[in-house]
Amino acid sequence: MKSNLITELPKINALKTPTSSAWVEQAISNLDTILLDHAQCERKAAGVALNLIFRYPSNAKMVRELTKIAREELEHFELVNQWLDRRNIPMRPLQPPPYGAGLKAQIRSQEPQRFLDSLLVSGLIEARSHERLGLIANYCPEPELAKFYHSLMASEARHFGVYWILADTYFDRELFLSRLDELAVVESELLAHLHPEPRVHS
Ligand SMILES: [Fe+2]
Ligand SMILES: [Fe+2]
Repeated sequence: MKSNLITELPKINALKTPTSSAWVEQAISNLDTILLDHAQCERKAAGVALNLIFRYPSNAKMVRELTKIAREELEHFELVNQWLDRRNIPMRPLQPPPYGAGLKAQIRSQEPQRFLDSLLVSGLIEARSHERLGLIANYCPEPELAKFYHSLMASEARHFGVYWILADTYFDRELFLSRLDELAVVESELLAHLHPEPRVHS
């Protein structure tokens, strides 16, 4: 991807509301659980990119960009798993918060709306992950772990940019921006009440 592509889009402030300090407190007090959930987020992010490649194999630009994202997310998955090992946190499934399913429910079933909504929901999740991983990087009291979270920032910022560019590539800009606005409202509503279980998207 040419780096100037991102600057061609109007600056997108995708997230309607910033993350609360209550979430930061919850996350910082439960770093082991957050790491475990974070590993699942990276695995899911890779899976979402791969699913889009399977579903729309003829969209060459999308396939190229999402191949890179899937690879990076799997690398992140591996790195987070190394942190789990280092802290002796056994891998186990965690009950996901309602966030992902709530957003998935917004994806319309007819094409091409399904494709547009899938790109925008993925972009919103990346944008929120970028925001929250950045908060962990800033507030984590363990310097090594904070450094690790800082190191993820650049690629997570690029990921949400890629999803917007793909939406802009395959859809009319006005249409994509107005749908993004609707979905962003839902995204913020889903996080309006802190989920009792500590999660990246609680
Ligand atoms: Fe990632
Ligand atoms: Fe990502």
